[in-house]
Amino acid sequence: VNHLLGIKYLNEADLQLIFKTADQFKEVINRPIKKVPSLRDLTIANLFFENSTRTRLSFELAEKRLSADVVNFSAASSSVNKGETLIDTVNNILSMKVDMVVMRHPNPGAGVFLSKHIKASVINAGDGAHEHPTQALLDAYSIREQHSNIAGKKVVIVGDILHSRVALSNILALKKLGAEVKVCGPLSLMPKFIETLGVKVEPNLEKALNWCDIANMLRVQNERMDTSYFPNTREYVQQYGVNKSLLSRLEKQITIMHPGPINRGVEITSDVADSEHSIILNQVENGVAVRMAVLYLLASKIKAYAG
Ligand code: CP
Repeated sequence: VNHLLGIKYLNEADLQLIFKTADQFKEVINRPIKKVPSLRDLTIANLFFENSTRTRLSFELAEKRLSADVVNFSAASSSVNKGETLIDTVNNILSMKVDMVVMRHPNPGAGVFLSKHIKASVINAGDGAHEHPTQALLDAYSIREQHSNIAGKKVVIVGDILHSRVALSNILALKKLGAEVKVCGPLSLMPKFIETLGVKVEPNLEKALNWCDIANMLRVQNERMDTSYFPNTREYVQQYGVNKSLLSRLEKQITIMHPGPINRGVEITSDVADSEHSIILNQVENGVAVRMAVLYLLASKIKAYAG
């Protein structure tokens, strides 16, 4: 398969190969000359039908560090607004001899749909509330870097699990890697199928934090829900917000993660986000090496096919 559409299509060996490859690229991007020629014969299109800061820039940097040619497409300033379909848009871009497509799209399953209709590799950079595979890869890689190992680690994912592609991809990746996972958040923001994924719900944040080694804090995604679903912000902060005084009551020091963007003062206070507990910017740094690994491994398969 020459696509990365979701963590559900990967096994543990795939994940470990991506991490080992990312280790090598992390070393490369810390050198004075951060570039290697690995993808100099490939052209990659980054197609963003939804807003992004980290994922878009991280993919673009990863592609450039691998010497690929890169074109960027933002739906907001494109002919999508004149009624052009997704397939027509992408086939027009591919006719300019593009080899690989990175796509973020608001519709769950958009990457799978695209992969069935075009002749190019597709990387899912987030499809609605479904999956965000490269975020889960960089999150797991950052846990591995911080804690040496992922197997046996206890991870709690806190917040709006229902609307979070980061939560689903993280749960799938962490379970395949042997971590124990719990989720914590309002029951109205918890998917009904959550326990079928092999995770337990812990409604009490302090209990969840006392149990875990790592807490991954998520933003409430108001943009994905009807206003009647919005939790009351003051009550949400009281029940599910992490602050320094809560962390100081815990029996041990835990690692705090967040995929970004952060709503400071809601799911996490600034004195936690910017503290020694937080690896939030390490996650962002690791995103480039992990995406280089994904691009490199997919490109190797394309080249093998081409003969
Ligand atoms: N974590 C993440 O996907 O951030 P962006 O939406 O800024 O890409």
